[in-house]
Amino acid sequence: MDILYDGNKPELDLPYFGKQARFFEFFKKCITPYLPINGIYAETNSGSVSNAFEFAKLGYKVIVNDIGEYSNAIAHAVFNNSTPINAEDKCKYEWLNEYKNSYIDRASIFASNMAINGYNAPMPRNNNCELIEKAEIYKKELLSIRKQGIRAYKIFNDDLFEFLKELDNNDITVDVMFMDFAWPWRNGEETDEYCTTANTLSGVFNNKEIHIKMWNKQNVIENVLLALKLAKKVSNYIFLSNQSSNYPTPELLEVNLLENGFNYEIRHTMLTKATQEDNLLNEEFFREYLYVIKC
Ligand SMILES: C[S@@+](CC[C@H](N)C(=O)[O-])C[C@H]1O[C@@H](n2cnc3c(N)ncnc32)[C@H](O)[C@@H]1O
Repeated sequence: MDILYDGNKPELDLPYFGKQARFFEFFKKCITPYLPINGIYAETNSGSVSNAFEFAKLGYKVIVNDIGEYSNAIAHAVFNNSTPINAEDKCKYEWLNEYKNSYIDRASIFASNMAINGYNAPMPRNNNCELIEKAEIYKKELLSIRKQGIRAYKIFNDDLFEFLKELDNNDITVDVMFMDFAWPWRNGEETDEYCTTANTLSGVFNNKEIHIKMWNKQNVIENVLLALKLAKKVSNYIFLSNQSSNYPTPELLEVNLLENGFNYEIRHTMLTKATQEDNLLNEEFFREYLYVIKC
């Protein structure tokens, strides 16, 4: 399938770098044929959680995972009503105490900071009226989304390799494993914005900072192959997503997939306007690739 895509604004639409929610209709078309009724849809790097939310609305069992504190806060804010387990921990800054006791509060203040200060902004040392007011808007949005009662089957907050091993240890097999990694830029450099979601925003509410190495030209292929190997053990189908703005190029990725026995059945591609995705890129258009790998 190759289409020029002009997706609708998603219902769950918090600021998040790399959010693919406007691709949902495309993903739905490609993925739902592989999901039986009550089937399990999982993501290794769920980020904004927007796509998982749409699959959950369709009635599938959804498993989300992202190492990021912000992503995890969104997942809990949207999908359940639990209290943060580390609500007793010390926050990085005093003012954050006001936001630590519920996931909706946490997600709202992360979203507000990202909307106002950009995708690479750490949480500021001090609060201000603008941050508070915007967080209130996100709180209302999240509350009304939660009220719909859409639930996730499971929510994880792990490094993706640990997440995949955990599924294996618990004998969980999913119908579809969607993988949208924290890919490096096309020139091979790490994407700082994912380092922000994965590392910089960790420890804000519990003072336990994460330091994972972001993927770059030197290690990305090795990591992709290892992740696919682990995913193969716990999935019926893998959907591997990549974009023309990323390294490796499709050709290099495909050679490595084929040489390592990941003989994709289909490669869907779709062109989209960069403006559709909040002007994330310098290019006017970019191309989404979606590889369907039978396990
Ligand atoms: C491309 S974004 C995913 C965007 C998502 N598909 C969406 O629609 O919002 C990559 C995500 O990977 C997360 N991440 C980075 N390194 C990770 C790791 N080692 N394990 C799990 N998640 C990781 C980042 O926090 C980021 O949310």
